Amino acid sequence: MNVRIAGTGSYLPVKTLSNDDLSKIMDTSHDWIVQRTGIHQRHIAAEGELTSDMATKAAEKALKAANVSADDIDFIVCATTTPDLTFPATAVTIQAKLGLKKDSFALDVQAVCSGFVYALSVGNNFIKAGQGQKGLIIGAEKMSSLLDWTDRSTAVLFGDGAGAVVIEATKEEGILSTHLHSDGTLCDILKTSGGAAQSEHVGKVTMEGRAVFKHAVIKLAQSVEEALSHNNISADDIDWFVPHQANERIIDAVADRLGFPLEKVIKTARNQANTSAASIPLALDDAVKNGKIQKGDLVVIDALGAGLSWGSALIKW
Ligand code: ACO
Repeated sequence: MNVRIAGTGSYLPVKTLSNDDLSKIMDTSHDWIVQRTGIHQRHIAAEGELTSDMATKAAEKALKAANVSADDIDFIVCATTTPDLTFPATAVTIQAKLGLKKDSFALDVQAVCSGFVYALSVGNNFIKAGQGQKGLIIGAEKMSSLLDWTDRSTAVLFGDGAGAVVIEATKEEGILSTHLHSDGTLCDILKTSGGAAQSEHVGKVTMEGRAVFKHAVIKLAQSVEEALSHNNISADDIDWFVPHQANERIIDAVADRLGFPLEKVIKTARNQANTSAASIPLALDDAVKNGKIQKGDLVVIDALGAGLSWGSALIKW
């Protein structure tokens, strides 16, 4: 049995914050941000708008695109590092908001910016192990609540949003392989300044930007190469490269190392910034809606985030 992606959906909050808006509240400039990251604006959740609200909207659209009803969904895996509450999992709130059947189950996966690749791998394995036929895989983040708005080195990089895909069992091809990695010895270069056990508050994002950049370029390229060699194919066989949208400099450097022409690379960082676990499903939905990704295409997704954690997946659309 294989597992395929049957539909995509996404949601971005209405409010946007431009680089010029940011330059009014911190010592930064549009030119600095664009030159270093390619980011022009980010979406910011409204007051009271929760991660589960954004996730539910993205999931409803994915269900519609897949022509699947909420009653048919056996499980939800939600990747998020900005849960509504410390517990329960945001996925169970989404389960209730979508009105899923009583014998469905829902859980969160915490792998920060790699979260969607991890969640897709978990959902793929649930179906392959016979623990369901259809699942919702969601990446949803309210990163604005985790930022120190006085720290220009991190606050300019992130945005809010959610993306979702419906996965289902199929006899055709679908998710061809997933590849996950983490290295906890690198946990200090990107982390929050607090957490329930350590400080009784969630903390704010702290980062050694240059170190993260260096690891991102090397490890993102390696994990795509791993997916290619595992499936005995080359970069030329790939129709679309959909990387985590940390910033355009990282994406361009990875595409260059792998030999992907930029026409094959999906980029959304310019208008969405880094939405952590939401960035890949947001980019997938963007590419599907714009008629880029078509049935039968070979798509490789790739992400790196705090942990460090990283991974890739090769998908026959
Ligand atoms: N506006 C203006 N100046 C700034 C800003 C800002 N927003 N932020 C930092 N600076 C200043 C610094 O203070 C420093 O000034 P100094 O030379 O007077 O000390 C100067 O700019 C250079 O700072 P660096 O941190 O060395 O700048 P760098 O060229 O490395 O760019 C950046 C910083 C964009 C964060 C880069 O390191 C990067 O992209 N790193 C990857 C981080 C990332 O994407 N993290 C997201 C989470 S992980 C992931 O998703 C992969």
